[in-house]
Amino acid sequence: MSDFTTPVWGYFVGVVAMTGIVWCLWLLYTQRRWLGKAPANEPTSTGHVWDGDLTELNNPVPRWWTVMYLLMCLFAVGYLVLFPGLGHYGGTLGYTSADDLQRQRAAQDAATRPLYARYENMPVPDIARDTRAMEIGQRLFLNNCAQCHGSDAKGAPGFPNLTDGDWLYGGSPETILQTITQGRHGVMPAWNGVIDARTASDIADYVRSLSGLGVDKSRVFSGKDAFGTYCVACHGADAKGNQALGAPNLTDDVWLYGSSQRTIEATILNGRDNSMPAQEGVLTPAQIRILTAWVWRQSNTPGQP
Ligand code: HEC
Ligand code: HEC
Repeated sequence: MSDFTTPVWGYFVGVVAMTGIVWCLWLLYTQRRWLGKAPANEPTSTGHVWDGDLTELNNPVPRWWTVMYLLMCLFAVGYLVLFPGLGHYGGTLGYTSADDLQRQRAAQDAATRPLYARYENMPVPDIARDTRAMEIGQRLFLNNCAQCHGSDAKGAPGFPNLTDGDWLYGGSPETILQTITQGRHGVMPAWNGVIDARTASDIADYVRSLSGLGVDKSRVFSGKDAFGTYCVACHGADAKGNQALGAPNLTDDVWLYGSSQRTIEATILNGRDNSMPAQEGVLTPAQIRILTAWVWRQSNTPGQP
């Protein structure tokens, strides 16, 4: 029930569940004459007759049917006492689906541990050379990473390409491992209100010129000036970025968001706020290690052993 911000829905669910059971019991109670002795169980006529001899009978509900419904009501009450189901009431067994998932995961981890054991202390480049490990890595990537980075790991606007050898945070095995384990949060502040639209456009011309893209040359000079004032703290005087901050290199014609004048102006004025979710607690350390090797391999060729 934690998805709901008000307690009202908890009570609503509880009332609906209880009403269902009470209604069912009431229905059985009103039909109780069918539980009686054999004569009472005989069908009676409703008095409707068609075509001379076609009679409509009022057939009693079979006894087994009534008993089955009673048992189902008993089961429902028992279930709602033991397990969570009545709104906010957690049940006497203290069961939660989150614990259950945790248990299943632990069992799964225990079952697959032997498979991962040989990679635990293997250097990442060696894992990248191991065919079996790379098959596992591919599957782990498709299941856990492809929804953002693409099934070919080539990314999409806002989601970095992991195959081009160009890194926001760094491409050493240690850095990739840290990125995957702890996640990353890249923040570029919004300059709206500090930099006017005209200056932002000049800066965008300057930034594009660094990658050799077509620009309005008359504006590059003033753009460079403003870049020196506002941008070098993170992107560096040479605009080659800072991996400690995740500030991208702006001179290599590799773009996280796109290279158009408009996109760069939007980045400057509105800023950017982007996260890579931490996988610690989602994947095991051994799985993260194999993924690190798989990602590393996308832009490195491991030598022969
Ligand atoms: C919810 C989307 C999402 C998922 C899922 C995701 N990532 Fe990311 N990842 C991102 C974003 C966004 C960034 C860029 C963060 C930034 O701009 O600061 C990123 C950055 C990275 C980087 C750093 C790239 C660089 O240039 O330094 C690596 C490595 C990476 N992800 C690997 C993975 C792996 C491996 C997985 C699967 C376990 C994964 N990611 C799952 C969104 C995601
Ligand atoms: C506080 C540090 C900081 C400052 C100051 C800063 N940036 Fe950034 N910038 C970043 C970070 C971090 C990112 C990456 C954001 C992300 O991961 O989504 C970024 C991203 C960008 C991008 C997107 C690059 C791409 O590949 O699509 C551009 C363009 C950019 N900055 C230009 C500028 C300009 C121009 C200025 C000066 C007006 C500036 N930045 C000032 C930190 C900064």
